[in-house]
Amino acid sequence: MKLIRVLKGERVNPPPVWLMRQAGRYLPEYRAVREKAGGFLDLCYSPEMAAEVTLQPIERFDFDAAILFSDILVVPDALGCDVRFVEGEGPVLLPIDGETWRGLDFTDVPSRLAPVYEAVRQIRARLDPGKALIGFAGAPWTVATYMVEGGASKDYAHLKRWMWTDPDGFGVFLYKLADAIADHLIAQIEAGADCVQLFDSWAGVLPEQEFSLWSAEPVYRIIGKIRERHPDVPVIAFPRGAGAGADFFARVSEANAIGMDQFMRLEQGTALQKQGVVVQGNLDPILLTVGGPVMERTVKYILDGLAGGPHVFNLGHGIVPQTPPENVAELVRLVRAWEPPA
Ligand code: CP3
Repeated sequence: MKLIRVLKGERVNPPPVWLMRQAGRYLPEYRAVREKAGGFLDLCYSPEMAAEVTLQPIERFDFDAAILFSDILVVPDALGCDVRFVEGEGPVLLPIDGETWRGLDFTDVPSRLAPVYEAVRQIRARLDPGKALIGFAGAPWTVATYMVEGGASKDYAHLKRWMWTDPDGFGVFLYKLADAIADHLIAQIEAGADCVQLFDSWAGVLPEQEFSLWSAEPVYRIIGKIRERHPDVPVIAFPRGAGAGADFFARVSEANAIGMDQFMRLEQGTALQKQGVVVQGNLDPILLTVGGPVMERTVKYILDGLAGGPHVFNLGHGIVPQTPPENVAELVRLVRAWEPPA
């Protein structure tokens, strides 16, 4: 598997390519299955339908890897946060605080997420053996933003107040959440995932003084738990918005690979490669909606810039729903036709 070779540190030309949110609303075949499923979580908990939509972008675009179709919010759902996806509003959860979180049920999250692992087994059985299956979860900080704010947030005020007014209590909660996330990732690996990605999509809202404690260290804890059981399974971590802190995050978390968002400079990526860290990224998802010569130039700029070490081509964040599928096909063609600078 090309992706796994690269995640273990090998330079491969052209690099493997997959895209965050590669299954989703920009694909008519996804919208058809989504309609049949009813609710978004019904789709996540139907192994047959989740397997189907996971494989759709592989069939259409021939990516080097499939990413399990699921969501980072299935973990809070299993803990008892009553997650709902409201049309046009995004996720809505019963918010927890420094007291009420103790009512959540942290025992045996994997037994409540059994349909997710059944989807992993079905996908692995149907996927080309040369292509990797990526399992994933949200990192504790990012999952906590949704649990404490009750959904998306502008300023994370409730979460930050808890973090600063009761750091010990908050730490107990965040590490319990980290252990549930580690169990969920290990169960995906044992069902057939070849590697896993931790999405710390809101790492960038932590001020410098708090970033290590609440973003990088919980990710290190999870990676340690995975490695105890599965030392050869690579872990990609995506500290979105970490900016100049991405290098620090890589050292503390000990992730095999770092997902770069489109705001990171390529020389940060080359510096990571020199330290033995694989890099993944980082085309702007909006540029993928534009396509044409400016996308072509930018794809070449990224490929050339990261050609000195192991690189996985990806976006800097997930595909947006208005993306024309033909631009995705063109992107895969561009990556596959690229040759390293002489
Ligand atoms: O990458 C993939 O193709 C795998 C599937 C996947 C989804 N969500 C499917 C999804 C993955 C990896 C995620 C991760 C996820 N979910 C993140 C981290 C990555 C990121 O984008 O920063 C976050 C923060 C979430 C939480 C979440 N899920 C939100 C905020 C929303 C609503 C916003 C929206 O786009 O509507 C979701 C819903 C969701 N998750 C959809 C999909 C395809 C759209 C729901 C639908 O089909 O109606």
